[in-house]
Amino acid sequence: MALCKRRGFVFQASDIYGGINGFWDYGPLGAQLKKNLRDAWWQDMILNPCWGRRGPGGQRVVNVPLETCIIQHPKVWEASGHVGGFNDPMVDCKETKGRYRYDHVMVFVPESGDPGDKPVFAYVGDQPTEAKQKKKAEKTFGAIKSVALSSLPQPWTRVIGPDAEKPGTLTEPRMFNLMFDTIPGAIRDEANKAYLRPETAQGVFLHFKNVVDSTRVKIPFGIGNTGRSFRNEVTPRNFTFRSREFEQAELEFFCHPDESRDWYVFWRDFRMDWWKAIGLAGENLILREHDKDELSHYSVGTSDVEYRFPFTAPGFGELEGIAHRGNYDLTQHQTHSKVKLDYFDTTRGETLPNGGKKGERYMPHCIEPAAGLDRGALALICEGYTVDPSRPSPEFLKLHPRVAPIKAAVFPLMDKDGMPEVADRLTDELFAKFGRYGFIESDAKQSIGKRYARMDEAGCPYCFTVDGDSLKDQTVTVRDRDTGQQQRLGIGQVSGFLGEKLGL
Ligand code: GAP
Repeated sequence: MALCKRRGFVFQASDIYGGINGFWDYGPLGAQLKKNLRDAWWQDMILNPCWGRRGPGGQRVVNVPLETCIIQHPKVWEASGHVGGFNDPMVDCKETKGRYRYDHVMVFVPESGDPGDKPVFAYVGDQPTEAKQKKKAEKTFGAIKSVALSSLPQPWTRVIGPDAEKPGTLTEPRMFNLMFDTIPGAIRDEANKAYLRPETAQGVFLHFKNVVDSTRVKIPFGIGNTGRSFRNEVTPRNFTFRSREFEQAELEFFCHPDESRDWYVFWRDFRMDWWKAIGLAGENLILREHDKDELSHYSVGTSDVEYRFPFTAPGFGELEGIAHRGNYDLTQHQTHSKVKLDYFDTTRGETLPNGGKKGERYMPHCIEPAAGLDRGALALICEGYTVDPSRPSPEFLKLHPRVAPIKAAVFPLMDKDGMPEVADRLTDELFAKFGRYGFIESDAKQSIGKRYARMDEAGCPYCFTVDGDSLKDQTVTVRDRDTGQQQRLGIGQVSGFLGEKLGL
């Protein structure tokens, strides 16, 4: 987090006013990192889906984009089930006015299990209060263990809330809706209440018919949508991992019910490969198939791509969910809007005497790979974060070149003797070729060691240094961020070298 702030990746929102819980802003490097991640998703999901990989039965993958509003008609969220069901069970503390997710609250009890008539101390998962509460519990009981609050019978007259001093202040759990509401227009009336979307997905279902009618897409095809979503998370925590405002990149892929199982497997496997290809390779990434009892009532299968974040280790945290949503959403919107949303497939049904098909009308099934871009950016930063005291910067970021916000840096060794002019010309050349993918830095101040260190912390994969020899033999030094190794390269070869390394 310190490096993220120091180098301008992530800042606390409203920093100068003390911050606002659950909201984060991106600095210059973070904004570009996230844009590169979003662009990589757009490129590999919309423009050139799945790198040309074919779907079940050798079918080409076709996806189109959509951009939908954060605020939609309130009935959308009734139909989607969010008004009635997007709830978390919460407990309130009457002493501190704190509110906690019921399933996150833990209590310390004696190792033997029975606290007798002594008060027990509650804490919320990995919250800072844990250390304080733990000390108090150890003083009271000696050897202690943690158990879920839900394992204690109510009323909790002896439970001391996570931030409380007195026992018995926690209420029983109540459901709390996670959607933010607002009132558009001039009349501040409950009847005009609307919601900030808690997911981008619903915008896609609303326009399924418009997309079919306005383009030449045929089932199977997908519709992608990226943008901000909002959830009034009760305990936002773990840096940007659980925020109240965040960005999603979701694809709703529509197919015939008979093919939906195969498409689900296809998308699940591709999404795992995709996260690996942008730098999350290795044992920090897993694909976890949900157990039957975790599935929504309409879902045939759901799996999560999970990353081992430092704050979840040795466990994993969700980066993306790949869900088989069946025909639940289209059916719900058809029922609530009374607009027919089924699909007439001219490639199916009986074969007619003229060799054509009679056609089949059905409600398509939907496979949804739903990724979080903030969690993605955080995982890339965590994966790249490397500590090595022997280097010019003891901590540095091994970001994959495709997502790295700074693609290259050009340094004149000294700010004199014709070196800045050569560096300037090389910078212009690199700008023209790679400037659309990220920053090209140039910097003539400070020692070269400090300049390398700064680029290492920013995750810049290559630095090119113009020195005295460059003027004589038209070569520069190229320094590789990950190995720190340097080699000479002709100035005319720099652009080709960088293009190859960046995969562009
Ligand atoms: N349309 C399905 C859907 O929204 P989800 O699993 O609730 O599914 C998808 O969300 C992704 O959005 C998650 O895998 C995660 O990366 C991201 N996400 C969800 N809630 C988040 C939060 N509070 N903060 C940051 N990212 C979040």
